[in-house]
Amino acid sequence: MSEHQFDLTIIGSGPGGYVCAIRAAQLGMKVAVVEKRPTHGGTCLNVGCIPSKALLHASESFEEAGHKFEKMGINGCKPKIDIKQMMAFKDEVVLGNTKGIDFLFKKNKVTPFIGTGKIVDKGVVEVTGGDGSVTKLASKNIVIATGSAVANLPGVEIDEKQVVSSTGALELPKVPKHLVVVGAGVIGLELGSVWARLGAKVTVVEFLDRILPGMDGDVAKTFPRMLKKQGFEFRLGTKVSGVKTTKSGVTVTVEPAKGGESEDIKADVVLVAIGRMPYTQGLGLEDLGVKMSQRGQVEIDDHFKTNVEGIYAIGDCVRGPMLAHKAEDEGVAVAEILAGQSGHVNYDVIPGVVYTMPEVASVGRIEEDLKADGIDYVVGKFAFMGNGRAKANQTPDGFVKVIADAKTDKVLGVHILGASAGEMIHEAAVLMEFSGSAEDLARTCHAHPTMSEAVKEAAMAVAKRAIHA
Ligand code: FAD
Ligand code: NAI
Repeated sequence: MSEHQFDLTIIGSGPGGYVCAIRAAQLGMKVAVVEKRPTHGGTCLNVGCIPSKALLHASESFEEAGHKFEKMGINGCKPKIDIKQMMAFKDEVVLGNTKGIDFLFKKNKVTPFIGTGKIVDKGVVEVTGGDGSVTKLASKNIVIATGSAVANLPGVEIDEKQVVSSTGALELPKVPKHLVVVGAGVIGLELGSVWARLGAKVTVVEFLDRILPGMDGDVAKTFPRMLKKQGFEFRLGTKVSGVKTTKSGVTVTVEPAKGGESEDIKADVVLVAIGRMPYTQGLGLEDLGVKMSQRGQVEIDDHFKTNVEGIYAIGDCVRGPMLAHKAEDEGVAVAEILAGQSGHVNYDVIPGVVYTMPEVASVGRIEEDLKADGIDYVVGKFAFMGNGRAKANQTPDGFVKVIADAKTDKVLGVHILGASAGEMIHEAAVLMEFSGSAEDLARTCHAHPTMSEAVKEAAMAVAKRAIHA
């Protein structure tokens, strides 16, 4: 067994782990990263954010060429899908990104170890390689950044061929005629969009009577109408009570969530997307007495510290939204704390984006929660229909909604349904980091013609003075 000495050892090289490693190395620490996948970047780069966005981009380009070009006088575009090439494009994007992490590790003198990490004692991590070899890392501090795994639907076995998780849905060999998606959350709508654009009929079965729980209610009401035009069918307030696979296809048995008669839906492929669970198996946490929550998350204090001295945790395996940028910011914060600085994350201003067409982007509070908390607020709303650039881009669907405190005018939340919403949301995030008001946003000069002008107009609408509405 070989032995090494480090200031910091991070288990998991997803957005939480790799960013933490780089920041800690910048701050002068000798850093090791342990990763059991052959490539770095975690769920996000390998089977999450990056491959899904590559397929979303490819399928959106196909959709545009097929349906939007002629109107602009670009004829002769009858695009055909070459799934093999589309998947090769996606794999190339993934490889480019994971290789990028190797480069950054080298540049910052972070030492990577490929193998499964286990904390065998305080300050000791054992790495078991694929060939069974064991390497011992002695480390002043350890950060657990082991992420999350797919949540299973009880009684339903995922074979990644006919019944798939997001991982299988990112590599289907052909376009299914009928894709049934279980769960109208982020994965269901994003990957459902990919296959709907490529020609599948997509039926989304959702337990609740709305889509995207936790997001703005107006978005949840308006968005399904847009998705229906793209080939989606929604079965809300419905639960799946069984899934049977045969060689010729899958039968999904559904019934009303409140109880009632069951019904069979025939499909070629079923995507199970009902959430993700923290992943901490095999880390040896029980033996060390590391406290876990009932939901299987590693329990941490405000400084990412577990109850065991020298062991910290970040990302999907701890509380909070399961988002890559949240994991990254926690990685930076914990590295800074370990270096004696005062790293922190503002959980009130973490944007969330659903990369569909149009996109959904959100930061801060939603009306439903403000009502429940008895906070007096004012809403300013502006539709993209009144925005010149949106019309020129053939993307007039959706709106911007700014929610401000009724007394102080401080912006409490911004919700956007529209093309490029995921880019526009950041001006709201910056404003909110500085506790800005709707008037601050409304009086900031926005370039014309841009979609972002709709954000300014919505802020003006808070004071009932939008110009183009
Ligand atoms: P992970 O990225 O899960 O990384 C953890 C790593 O730890 C893994 O590589 C794992 O192999 C490794 N590991 C686990 N146990 C051990 C061990 N014992 N030893 C060694 N290594 C170990 N988020 C967004 O913000 N935007 C998006 O667009 C987005 N799209 C997504 C699309 C899909 C299909 C999915 C599934 C997720 C998406 N997410 C997105 C969520 C995002 O991927 C996660 O929030 C993010 O990856 C969490 O980062 P992490 O570092 O905590 O964990
Ligand atoms: P999710 O939590 O977003 O949505 C799951 C949906 O499934 C919910 O609407 C829920 O009500 C429903 N559901 C739960 N049990 C069900 C059942 N038995 N039958 C029918 N419906 C059921 O989870 P999802 O989409 O799996 O994504 C997992 C995580 O990955 C999310 O937390 C998300 O943050 C992250 N992610 C983020 C992305 C982004 O930021 N763009 C993209 C993809 C994933």
